[in-house]
Amino acid sequence: MFAKKNVGVIMKKFITKNTEQTIELGKKIGSKLLAGDVILLVGDLSAGKTTITKGIGQALGVTKVINSPTFTIVKVYKGQIPLYHLDLYRLDGVNEDFDLEEYFEGDGVAVVEWPTQASELLPKEYIKIELLRLDENEREISLTTVGKKYEGRFDDIC
Ligand SMILES: Nc1ncnc2c1ncn2[C@@H]1O[C@H](COP(=O)(O)OP(=O)(O)O)[C@@H](O)[C@H]1O
Ligand SMILES: [Mg+2]
Repeated sequence: MFAKKNVGVIMKKFITKNTEQTIELGKKIGSKLLAGDVILLVGDLSAGKTTITKGIGQALGVTKVINSPTFTIVKVYKGQIPLYHLDLYRLDGVNEDFDLEEYFEGDGVAVVEWPTQASELLPKEYIKIELLRLDENEREISLTTVGKKYEGRFDDIC
């Protein structure tokens, strides 16, 4: 019996030692992104989800300061590619009035904090970034891509 090959799933792991390094990693990832891409950010409070989003935003040409969208669910930032920064922390289950798909299929890059709050509404293909707090200033950051459209996209990031 052969194990089924998990096509399109690639994982890379990084360690960052301070806030600035996480922003830099966000910039490297952001420089590979295209309109319509979806990034899911997984990690506890203070893991660095908003911090890495700052770097992603810089790479997309966002000049405004990116901060946590917790009370608004979504913030839209202008850039060479627009950034849709979603925070689903306060989304109670599926809110039928709230159209997430317009952000996932839009002209921008969607970055989603607390994606598990809306698991059934997420696209089939996505980039997942998991952040784990190792100590006060150290984070383990894993990058996983699911789907053909992301295959090979981040191969040269280190
Ligand atoms: N290596 C690191 N990477 C990211 N953030 C770090 C790091 N070291 C310390 N921090 C700090 O941890 C906090 C992370 O906050 P934030 O990015 O808002 O987290 P989240 O959005 O996951 O709740 C910030 O205050 C940041 O300066
Ligand atoms: Mg946050």
